[in-house]
Amino acid sequence: MKILVLNGPNLNMLGVREPDIYGKETYASLVEKIESYCKGKDIDVECKQSNHEGTLVDWIQEAYGSVDGIVINPGAYTHTSVALLDALKAVSIPAVEVHISEVSKREDFRKISYVRAACIATITGRGTDGYLDAIEIFLKNGDKK
Ligand code: DQA
Repeated sequence: MKILVLNGPNLNMLGVREPDIYGKETYASLVEKIESYCKGKDIDVECKQSNHEGTLVDWIQEAYGSVDGIVINPGAYTHTSVALLDALKAVSIPAVEVHISEVSKREDFRKISYVRAACIATITGRGTDGYLDAIEIFLKNGDKK
């Protein structure tokens, strides 16, 4: 199974950025955690992060035909981006939306998610374990290739 993990803007600042909300773990250690989780589970995982909406759209399009599942934390683009929604719909790759924080308990604008309509599940408020929960959903769905 091939899984692409996409992180949007400011997630490269994990560990530095509002640690009371997002925790002290860095982006590098998040990637390490995901990679070690996938090791031995027969999952080929690739983690990518960009601060640019168009780059995220490009990566979703490039995944077409070669990736079995997308785990996506679009960061602030969650709440604004029709382009990411359309890209996920265009490729029809099963996607799980992840948020480190409990977005439903924060500002009203964070309660809106455009990408959610193209996702099979949403995980919020589980810290970085949410990424592993998302991968687990793909494993349980048996999208093995
Ligand atoms: C976030 C929540 C978003 O509202 C915010 O803009 C982020 C991170 C999260 O992981 O909790 O950048 O997606």
